[in-house]
Amino acid sequence: MAKNNVTRRSFIQTTAAGASVLAVSGSKRVLGANDRARLAWIGCGGRGSYLSRRALTVDEIEIVAACDLILEKANRVAEYVKEEENRSINTYVDFRKMIEKEELDGVVVATEVGNHAKVVVPVLEAGLNCLSEKCVDANIDNVDAVTRAARKAKGIYQVAFQRRSDIGYRAGVQAIHDGQIGDVAFMQGQWHWGGTGHVGGWVGNVDISGGKLNEQACHHMDLMSWVMGNIAPTHCVAIGAITVDYKNPYRHQAENMSSVAWHFPTGAILSYTHLHGVPDAFTGEKSWVVGKNGGVNLLQGVIYVRGQEPKPVSDKAPSWGDDSVRGELIEFVECLRSGKTPTSNAETARIATLMTLMAEKAMFRRDQNSYGPGIIKWEDIGSTT
Ligand SMILES: NC(=O)c1ccc[n+]([C@@H]2O[C@H](COP(=O)([O-])OP(=O)(O)OC[C@H]3O[C@@H](n4cnc5c(N)ncnc54)[C@H](O)[C@@H]3O)[C@@H](O)[C@H]2O)c1
Repeated sequence: MAKNNVTRRSFIQTTAAGASVLAVSGSKRVLGANDRARLAWIGCGGRGSYLSRRALTVDEIEIVAACDLILEKANRVAEYVKEEENRSINTYVDFRKMIEKEELDGVVVATEVGNHAKVVVPVLEAGLNCLSEKCVDANIDNVDAVTRAARKAKGIYQVAFQRRSDIGYRAGVQAIHDGQIGDVAFMQGQWHWGGTGHVGGWVGNVDISGGKLNEQACHHMDLMSWVMGNIAPTHCVAIGAITVDYKNPYRHQAENMSSVAWHFPTGAILSYTHLHGVPDAFTGEKSWVVGKNGGVNLLQGVIYVRGQEPKPVSDKAPSWGDDSVRGELIEFVECLRSGKTPTSNAETARIATLMTLMAEKAMFRRDQNSYGPGIIKWEDIGSTT
């Protein structure tokens, strides 16, 4: 994996120009302009190990320890560090021991969604900076617990909604906020998958994922609430269904198809479908925003203003893959040095997560263990934050 020395050099120049020594909020250490942020990993499964490999391309980050309930997974991250930087790190199965023993500037949490709060809350209470995978958690009480901890925390809490760190997505949202398409009237989104993909494993278990919409489509709820200026919707109408004959379903098996609409206080509507098991020709993502004077295709980064030719909103096409994940890691270190609030923070992520849990609440009848149509108001979802 090639190191990005250009980034490293420009990073030193910009930070050195601003201040020679900056305090790291939430950490006992004072981070010098050329110091690397010492980060530890908690949760080294699919996403955690991917994030560690992305972090190894970011010179501002030094991975110093890794933890997973399954030690072999933490050891895998240690192997990546050895291969890339020829040094050893400590690995753990107990994250509390790790944060007590290691000298850290922050942690990256990539446990299952329903295991976020039980890690993030103690990490924030310990005064550490935290970059947690999305979404906040799998149920409303845990979202409230994380929100309260983050509001009180000395450290930074960033949530890995990576589109918020991406130049292309930022340009699309900025064009809307600049009024280029007029007031937002309608948003339409979709994420459609072939096969029965992504409904196996813990993701299919409502008690751990909060439902399919919460585990995955929350990226798009975050995007659209960002478009709306980070405000919460007033109402949600949702219908979900299980169309696959699971041989060993979970006690609370998550939906594999849903159709949901949210209504915002301005009158704007977000209409969304999240489908698994559709023909290949029907797969793909959509993120359209329609205003009185035109529209923006946020996925493609193209603006359509009435009477004008369509044009890209930025030189850089939107990305939610490798580039934006690297951007999110760099943003975390920048916020950790400057004390700035990340673009994806406790308040924005709370809204995105509550939007998907709101929909799950409307369509999943927990007492009957079945999906059907439902409508719910924001004030009735039971959030205490
Ligand atoms: N941002 C994105 O685009 C994106 C993409 C994929 C996954 N994710 C998110 O990443 C997270 C992890 O997903 P995954 O697919 O890697 O799951 P996974 O099951 O592969 O990995 C989760 C790991 O967390 C470990 N773990 C759980 N509790 C722990 C604890 N208390 N201490 C230490 N380790 C613990 C498990 O042992 C497991 O190895 C989820 O929140 C998921 O939604 C985000």
